Amino acid sequence: MNRKTVAEVELSGRKVLTRVDFNVPLENGKIADETRIVAALETINYLRENGGKVILCSHLGRPKGKPDPAQSLAPCAQALAAHLGSPVRFVPDCIGPVVAEAVEEMVAGDVILLENTRFHPGEEAKDEAEMLAFAEQLAAPADMYVNDAFGSSHRKHASVYGVTRFLSPCVAGFLVEREVSALSRLLAAPQQGFVAVLGGAKVADKIGTIKSLLGKVETLLIGGAMSWAFLKAQGHEIGRSLFFPESLEAVNDLLRTMHDAVATKLRNPVDIVAKNMETGEIKVLPWGDIAEPWAGKDIGPETAAQYAEIIRKAETVFWNGPMGKFEEKPFDEGTLAIAKAMGDCPGFNVVGGGDSVAAVTQMGQADRIDHVSTGGGASLEFIEFGTLPGVEVLDER
Ligand code: 3PG
Repeated sequence: MNRKTVAEVELSGRKVLTRVDFNVPLENGKIADETRIVAALETINYLRENGGKVILCSHLGRPKGKPDPAQSLAPCAQALAAHLGSPVRFVPDCIGPVVAEAVEEMVAGDVILLENTRFHPGEEAKDEAEMLAFAEQLAAPADMYVNDAFGSSHRKHASVYGVTRFLSPCVAGFLVEREVSALSRLLAAPQQGFVAVLGGAKVADKIGTIKSLLGKVETLLIGGAMSWAFLKAQGHEIGRSLFFPESLEAVNDLLRTMHDAVATKLRNPVDIVAKNMETGEIKVLPWGDIAEPWAGKDIGPETAAQYAEIIRKAETVFWNGPMGKFEEKPFDEGTLAIAKAMGDCPGFNVVGGGDSVAAVTQMGQADRIDHVSTGGGASLEFIEFGTLPGVEVLDER
């Protein structure tokens, strides 16, 4: 990575504003998955051990510029303290006197966690002056900056992007370094033997990534609700399958602009698991018309077997997005089959995105994956552009 990391700067006695991605899933006020907290521990421990005063900030959820107790980061302070084995003071705001006072009281090795940055409209402000005014307040109590929030690094937000105008040095944490290295290795992989698997609901959201991948891979396997848009674009009925009009526009754009690559590299399912939305009956259909009142819900077993075979033989493989309605049994089967094949692949294998990561974990495959990304959208944008705004603004090596 061509950006400086925490390992390359003096930390002793410094007040280090550290952006982490603690955007964890909450269920009834409890953290349902602590992966993102665990992923930040290496950097936090390193900062502490080297005498830094660690001022953590993050967003959680999408509270749209207003305080919302249901999206408070307070539970993360408790969870983090348990992992660190030492107290983490929670500060009920991320700017202003309450933060200044808390920082004033810190000694080397202390860790505090500030309240959700998205409780302030400046964090995500489209107006650059407003975003920077908030970033300046966020930066005020600190004297250097670390970005370890890979999952948020595609956002040009105050805490990821804006604060770098006001602090120096600005360096990457170990998580950002690890993610950037793994995804860069993916982008540099030879086309021969490079397989990508993309699923999820909307083609439009992933169109840039699809175009980028079509230029790099030997085979692109498509699954999930986005495949219904490909089916429709081929002139088929899709019944009551989940469908977004903008996905059809995106597929048509793809067919227009990258016709040859689509024809030679992109593979759609060969069969579909469909549900009768009136009777609840479930059956496997060949890839083709899905009549009313049926809806496509997952890739079929033949598709899962064919995709798995291709994945197992890949030299490099990247997977993002579920193959069907993963959260509803039995429509999780296609996704779980892909998760198993990902683990079996002896090549360089990378998984990103919430459902795909959950599937490899559920199948006990996470340890067999070279890199499990903590960023869904961020990993897709990295593949599209080869870098991210929140990485670009860090100090060059
Ligand atoms: C994520 O969960 O992908 C990141 O934390 C970014 O969250 P956002 O999509 O709300 O910006």
